[in-house]
Amino acid sequence: MEILVLGGTAQLGHAVAAAAVRRGHRVTCAARGVSGSVPAGAELVPVDRRDGLDPLAGRRFDAVVDVATMSLRWVRDALAALGAQAGHWTFVSSINAYADTMTPGQTAASPVLDPVTDAPDFTSEDRQVDVETYGGVKVASENAVREAVGDRAFVVRPGLITGPGDRMDRFGYWAARLWRGGRVLVPDAPDQPIQHIDVLDLAEWIIGSAEQGRTGTLDAIGPVTTLRALLTGLAEIVAPEGTELVAAPPRALLDAGVSPWSGPKSLPLWLPDTHLGLTAHDPAESLAAGMPVRPLAETAHAALRTERELGLDRERIAGLTPAEESELLATLAHRVW
Ligand SMILES: NC(=O)c1ccc[n+]([C@@H]2O[C@H](COP(=O)([O-])OP(=O)(O)OC[C@H]3O[C@@H](n4cnc5c(N)ncnc54)[C@H](OP(=O)(O)O)[C@@H]3O)[C@@H](O)[C@H]2O)c1
Repeated sequence: MEILVLGGTAQLGHAVAAAAVRRGHRVTCAARGVSGSVPAGAELVPVDRRDGLDPLAGRRFDAVVDVATMSLRWVRDALAALGAQAGHWTFVSSINAYADTMTPGQTAASPVLDPVTDAPDFTSEDRQVDVETYGGVKVASENAVREAVGDRAFVVRPGLITGPGDRMDRFGYWAARLWRGGRVLVPDAPDQPIQHIDVLDLAEWIIGSAEQGRTGTLDAIGPVTTLRALLTGLAEIVAPEGTELVAAPPRALLDAGVSPWSGPKSLPLWLPDTHLGLTAHDPAESLAAGMPVRPLAETAHAALRTERELGLDRERIAGLTPAEESELLATLAHRVW
């Protein structure tokens, strides 16, 4: 097949393009080339979506995969330029499209946020995004896709994406931190649900779905586990002997200015009570649709390789600095997991 990836230079788009090349397709990626390079075997057509898609004018693709992070305008422009001739269209939305962040067991049929049609475009250089606006733009983008190419559209809503190329410092924070060993501060929320999908599994699934002409809307998620199972499992894979997971009470962490999930001075993957549903969607539909789920060890080692490439001592956009962690360990540690 002739496949276009709108993106292709960052984590998911790159993995999608690589999966498509591996599966024998001819692959074109359209991006600026600022976030990285495209995989070997794929062609980069330099495009700045702020200026439209003229470099792709007149081209026809059997399948298009759009990973536009947060821009309704980019999504609409792509549909206008390429939708009529495209054989199949995948739009990468997000689990943040859902209105209810608390209830576990939701499915693709659960209610979504109101569409947001007037938000400014997000670019890779932006890091501060209001999650509700992000989710609302995804909903508006999904609707635009269904309106334009609904009979050929596959809308996927990934949960937390992990594995190689992850620059979000969430799963990667834990892989790197546990690899360093010692006393590792964790939030004492052992039973918190957590769910992720390895980018390589997601990419294979997206291309496999395009090959089959799958349409409709599905979550793109793996099985639900607990925070304790995930972090102790990760520790078994990457941490040196003698590593201790030292838990601090969530309330005390919040009082000490530690944020859940992401951002500066945070404990990534830890969720506030208001958001426990986000990482506990029902994976049955994704799995029934053939979502592969690789062993945690492969995701962990790949995340660690990316961490090393990025620099283990770099300034991160999420997590605790060593100094912050030491101070919190000295004051808040209350039990070892
Ligand atoms: N990470 C998660 O846990 C998570 C969870 C749920 C959903 N998602 C969704 O999954 C997708 C992730 O995609 P991703 O990993 O490939 O990366 P991304 O960091 O979201 O970047 C997307 C692509 O957009 C391109 N881009 C940015 N500005 C551009 C411009 N002005 N013109 C043309 N292209 C531009 C980037 O390439 P250049 O910079 O090289 O131009 C990059 O290839 C997004 O849709 C995200 O919303 C992510």
